[in-house]
This record gives sequence, structure tokens and C-alpha cells, in this order.
Amino acid sequence: MYKKKAFFITFEGIEGSGKSYLSKRFYKKIKRMGFKTIYTREPGGTLRAERIRNIILKDYFNNKSKEKFDKYTDTLLYLAARNEHIKNKIGPAMSEKKIVICDRFTDSTTAYQVYGKKVNYKFIENIHKQILGNLKPNLTFVLRVKISKALKRMNKRKSKNRYDKLSKSFYTRAQNAFIKIAKKNTKRYFMIDNSKDSNNVENIILNKFIMSYQNANRSS
Ligand code: TMP
Repeated sequence: MYKKKAFFITFEGIEGSGKSYLSKRFYKKIKRMGFKTIYTREPGGTLRAERIRNIILKDYFNNKSKEKFDKYTDTLLYLAARNEHIKNKIGPAMSEKKIVICDRFTDSTTAYQVYGKKVNYKFIENIHKQILGNLKPNLTFVLRVKISKALKRMNKRKSKNRYDKLSKSFYTRAQNAFIKIAKKNTKRYFMIDNSKDSNNVENIILNKFIMSYQNANRSS
């Protein structure tokens, strides 16, 4: 019954929003239900893109290093990783009509680089035109969270990356950006408050996916 169109789902939100946990649970659930699906993430998702991820998140940004990437170098690395990821993983899976579930995608670049770091939007848009082609998520879940709750969740983590050490105001700015993006297009974006660790959120995600997937297949 469910094997017609490729479908691209992204999960977005700040660290501590619960998006990685929820996206993995969602993936396992629909796989068990018999959907042809893959799970992936950004930055990363392929061997080379994961190497770029390591450069971005660990090697260069350790606290001992005085020198840091310029914000445009940083942005280009995210975009380079994305290009590898699309060409070698997302694109082929979409061609095979799979359901692709991705933890973060282009909206993270808008939230973190454009709103967070003030990187020029046009610069990113131009490169996106080249590397994305027609690729666009069909459905994006934006997980919002009380900042104090997000910080609590982050503090529980063993491995902390550079963003986990950023200030409260940076996260507030990034989260506000996600909310703004989501409000502009309520057809594609679905915003959920995940401050409460409630199991119900998983059901909400599943139901929304089923509705959107059926609609997409109906409108073909
Ligand atoms: P993760 O911890 O959710 O896996 O994401 C790694 C970090 O990368 C996260 O702090 C957000 C950041 N990021 C950007 O700044 N820009 C991007 O385009 C992407 C995909 C992630």
C-alpha cells in the first residue's frame, strides 16, 4: 500500500529539543510498519560528510586552539558535507522511492549560520541552488523546547560539542529562527512543543506523517 513516492522528512530544532531521539524512534517505528526508509543526519550521513563533520565539530573547535574557522569557512564546510550527503545518500534513496528521515537539514543552516552567526543569506541560497536542485523536504518537524529544559538535557550529555557550550541567547536566537521559518509555511512545517518528555509527541509525529504521506501520494 505504501510504496509509491519518495518522501523526505527532516527534524529541526536546537540541541536539547529531543529531535535526535524522536527522529530515531520514528524511524524504527515506520520501519517496523513496513515502510522502505533510511535514517540519516547532518552534518554527516556518509563517510566523507562525517569526516567533514568531525573537522567542524571537534578538531578545529577544541578549546585549546586559539585559531578558529572564519564563519564563512564554517558555513562552506556544512555545505560541502551537505553536497556529499545529497549526491551519495539522499539523492539515491529518493530515486529508489524511499522515505528519507534526516536529523537536521537546510533550516539548521538558516537558523545557526544566518540568524545565529549573521552569515549572508544570499551566499547560502546561491550554493543551495546548485547543490539541492529540486530537492526539498516534504515534511519538517520543528521541535521547540523551553530553553531551560534544553540546557538541562544538554548538561546530561557525555559528549558535548561546541554548540553545547554556547550561550543561552544564542539558543534563543536559533530557536526563534526555527519558529519563524516554520510559521511561514504551515503546509510543510509542523511545530511541536517537546518540553515535557511526553510519549504523546511520538504519536503526534506518526499521525502527521501518515496524513502527509497519504496526501502526497493522492495528489500524484
Ligand atoms: P547535532 O548535534 O544536532 O548533530 O548537530 C551538530 C551541530 O551542527 C549543531 O550544533 C547544529 C550545527 N549545524 C549548523 O550550525 N549548521 C548546519 O547547517 C547544520 C546541519 C548543523
